Amino acid sequence: MSSLRITGGQRLSGEIRVQGAKNSVLPILAASILSGGETVITNCPELSDVHAALDILRRLGCRAELENGVATVDSSSMTGSDIPDELMRRMRSSVIFLGAILARCGEVTLSMPGGCELGPRPIDLHLSAMERLGAVITERGGDLICKAPALRGARVDLAFPSVGATENTMIAAAGARGVTLITNAAREPEIYDLGEYLKALGVRVSGAGTSTVTVEGGPYRAFARHRVIPDRIAAATYIAAVASAGGDIVLRGVEPGHLTAVSDVFREMGVGITCEGDALLVSAGKRLMPPRTVTTRPYPGFPTDAQPTLMASCLQCDGASVFVETIFENRYRHVPELRRMGADIRVDGRVAIVRGGRPLHGAIVASPDLRGGAALLIAALAAEGTSEIIETKHILRGYENIVENLAALGADAGRAD
Ligand code: UD1
Repeated sequence: MSSLRITGGQRLSGEIRVQGAKNSVLPILAASILSGGETVITNCPELSDVHAALDILRRLGCRAELENGVATVDSSSMTGSDIPDELMRRMRSSVIFLGAILARCGEVTLSMPGGCELGPRPIDLHLSAMERLGAVITERGGDLICKAPALRGARVDLAFPSVGATENTMIAAAGARGVTLITNAAREPEIYDLGEYLKALGVRVSGAGTSTVTVEGGPYRAFARHRVIPDRIAAATYIAAVASAGGDIVLRGVEPGHLTAVSDVFREMGVGITCEGDALLVSAGKRLMPPRTVTTRPYPGFPTDAQPTLMASCLQCDGASVFVETIFENRYRHVPELRRMGADIRVDGRVAIVRGGRPLHGAIVASPDLRGGAALLIAALAAEGTSEIIETKHILRGYENIVENLAALGADAGRAD
């Protein structure tokens, strides 16, 4: 898909099913190599990041397939322990394979992940956690070489509740001898989900999803089956779409409890959100009110991944909305593109002030990153005329069928090749 075309002005109605969580399935795919057996993952979204993870698994010698939302990994034939630079670059989060390969093979070589669209992406917390578990890490010509013939359980106090570092530590700990205690762990639902998968493998895990996690390694079962949780960020994106375009939709297959911080903000803006089991009924009229200052925080706070799409829908508010981004340094790259559509947004360091209520107009805009690209789609739904969104590869990293879903809800959206 080279670009997307959206003509604004259509209210949304109808229902769609929300995909499985990208940020759950990636660490689970990495952890699937621990046992040397077979894993079946259902509700697996079909995304370019997931295909990149499957390519890494194949490169390591595993059998890895994805068909009709079911990923199957057989790691009994695993031979390799290196992830080449090209695969590391294709998926920024490939560092999530560090703990798993180390646990399975006793060594791993990966190229240093560079910065990314969201600013520098350090992995110091991942590395110091591996060292706590007994790894020795050296750097050679841009490659990281980690060796630990025998990992052993330890106490790991994270300086910041990093999602990826918590996951890497849990996975490595699952392959370590003895008990690992992780303090100041990230509490995201995706961590809980990883814990559930590790339990399905036979690992003893407690506290996943709280700030103190305990993991006691193997022995593993040869077969594990796991259903991935719903993607709360994709759900937040569709809520933002309704807020921006107006309308009345049903989102099926969601976990409303994972969306509390997001739903609270949209409700403040005047968006109707009602839960019925695993469905969310979302409705929005023409005029929205600005929410109180939105500050991104680790879970259960407002997610940084939902900031760009919320910001795009705040362009429909009567008055000024204020955002404070505390997680990533460079997370306002959608702002200059939104300005091309007529948005009035001022950025000063970590703060952005959005003056809503000005009419937006269609424009040619470029996706700066995954969630920033989604924000452009959200704004385009409310703009007068047609927008063309280029650099859509970023959007495809994380959203399954987003254009088809918006079109099914009545948006005038399609691919423009
Ligand atoms: C994960 C999510 C991403 C989300 C982010 C925050 C996946 C695949 N990605 O990314 O969508 O935006 O959580 O919710 O799950 N940090 C360090 N040193 C480290 C690790 C992180 O300084 O070793 C910093 C980062 O630069 C960033 C902050 O910690 O400023 C949060 O990063 P982290 O929670 O690790 O995010 P990711 O796991 O990379």
